Amino acid sequence: MIVLGVFAFGMNPGACLLRDGELVAFGEEERFTRLLGSHGMFPVRATVSCLRQAQIDLGEVDVVAFPWDASKYPYRMLFSIGRQFLKYGVGATRLRGTRRRRGERSGPGNVGSVLRNLLQHSPRRLLAEIRSGLRATGHRGDLPPVEFVPHHLCHAYSAYFSSPFDDALVLTLDGSGEDTCTQLARGSGEDLRVLSETPIPHSLGWYYAAFTAYMGFLPYRHEGKLMALAGLGHERAAHNPWPERLGDVLSFRDGAYEVDPTFTRFGSHSHAERFTDKLVDLVTGHDAALRPLEAMNPRDGARLLQPAYVDLAWGVQRRLEEAVGDLVAGALRESPTPNLCIAGGVGLNCKLNGSLRGQAGIERVFAFPASNDAGSAIGAAMVVARGGGDTIKRELTSTHLGPEFSDAEIHTALSFSRVTFHEPSDIAEEAAKCLAAGKSVGWFQGRMEAGPRALGARSILADPRRPDASDRLNREVKGRETWRPFCPSILAESAEELVRGSDDAGFMSVALPVREAQLSVMEQCRHVDGTTRPQVVRPQVLPRYHALLRHFERETGTPFLVNTSLNLSGEPIVCTPEEALRSFFSSGLDALAIGSFLLEK
Ligand SMILES: [Fe+2]
Repeated sequence: MIVLGVFAFGMNPGACLLRDGELVAFGEEERFTRLLGSHGMFPVRATVSCLRQAQIDLGEVDVVAFPWDASKYPYRMLFSIGRQFLKYGVGATRLRGTRRRRGERSGPGNVGSVLRNLLQHSPRRLLAEIRSGLRATGHRGDLPPVEFVPHHLCHAYSAYFSSPFDDALVLTLDGSGEDTCTQLARGSGEDLRVLSETPIPHSLGWYYAAFTAYMGFLPYRHEGKLMALAGLGHERAAHNPWPERLGDVLSFRDGAYEVDPTFTRFGSHSHAERFTDKLVDLVTGHDAALRPLEAMNPRDGARLLQPAYVDLAWGVQRRLEEAVGDLVAGALRESPTPNLCIAGGVGLNCKLNGSLRGQAGIERVFAFPASNDAGSAIGAAMVVARGGGDTIKRELTSTHLGPEFSDAEIHTALSFSRVTFHEPSDIAEEAAKCLAAGKSVGWFQGRMEAGPRALGARSILADPRRPDASDRLNREVKGRETWRPFCPSILAESAEELVRGSDDAGFMSVALPVREAQLSVMEQCRHVDGTTRPQVVRPQVLPRYHALLRHFERETGTPFLVNTSLNLSGEPIVCTPEEALRSFFSSGLDALAIGSFLLEK
């Protein structure tokens, strides 16, 4: 059967297409709209792209799968609100999506907004909005039926059925999906069975978002910055008191955890929507100087790097790792397995994912590369396809599931732009020579990759031997904070010599320790804590990218490159040749290898 998966109206909308159980296309809406995140939209353009890649019309789709259980949501949420009201009192009446003004106190006065939210998420209303979104693709005939699928089940399906394992514990960690924040499941062969669920308000996503906001970053967008900041606290880790101090916010014992929502949701919010004044009191009670920051304020941006804030970030991350480690250990006591699959928004935390390797008997970790909500569309489509009798268990070897452009199309774009370019006999060899000569190279090849990481289709590459490689990328192209590390793409043949656990390094979704002897060699693409988030490149998956790395190794003796995404600061990863050209000419990039063509400045 043909199943179109769509995630819409939330964070990171996206669409995918499954044909007879096989994932043939996937894309995040932001890549097409060029609006970072494209939050709240229907993935019209991503849907059109998936249909075009599969060369089918929407009328040929059997079912549209939607990763949100609209039929259960209203009554489950009413039950959830009642439960929270009894436990936390009058503040516990606000729902996902309802807004709170600064300084406003949660209370019974919010009941109106809660009911409005429930009405907006009613199955009838949601169905009408999905159908309207599907119509916006230009389709005029009958629309396929829409099936709603529980959100966490979708994340779990996407991770387990794409993993290399036939038996695994499956952990989904999210802000919230319907009334659930965390789910444990067991995947075995062609089956997946839910073991337990942790309900709202015990959200690890909310916990992390609260501190993301506390540091002045944008919650639900800049969690990676908090994670990177935490790594800077590595040297003082042994004496860091914060994991223990945060025990009131995030407590855990014997395989279960709780997040106290009076620090995140319920109570006065004088500073930001994601954390309460009670959290400020807790933090400043230990260190009066640790006021909430506004990172856009230059003075606060500098304060962020003071040891006190770095140590708080380290403690926040560590507490998360401890709580999730305990959760996993508890589940494994019941039924042991060496394999762990992770998805959901918190599953983008590669440090957390890496920390679980080696814990409680876990030997392998597969973190789904599109763990965000766009990726839940894949899981929804899998649930529906499996229900229709399709076999969906297929190891994901590549995230290159987006549109590609032929050399003829690229040539047309280059000619139209009247830029100077040439066509070398071997683009991989020529690009490797540029890199070995110290140039930064944009690498635009084949189908666009899915997920937040550039994996050799829309990448910016640099020579890791240059001591200023990351500084230069930051200064001339990316405009990122200098303390955030870049990551490497490594030849599969050399990966284990450089990092431990390279089996789990297909998609830059797991932080792994760099071997001690290689720390200086990998200085430009690792964090100060000695970890890196590598992509291992195999010739059968990415032949041209592998050839580039091979040529670079021949030229320099180094089997890896610094790899970051091809985009300008604050923009999504590029999709089309025109966008690649725009990024090339608007930045300090030295060269662009686009299809078979090379441009140099
Ligand atoms: Fe989610």
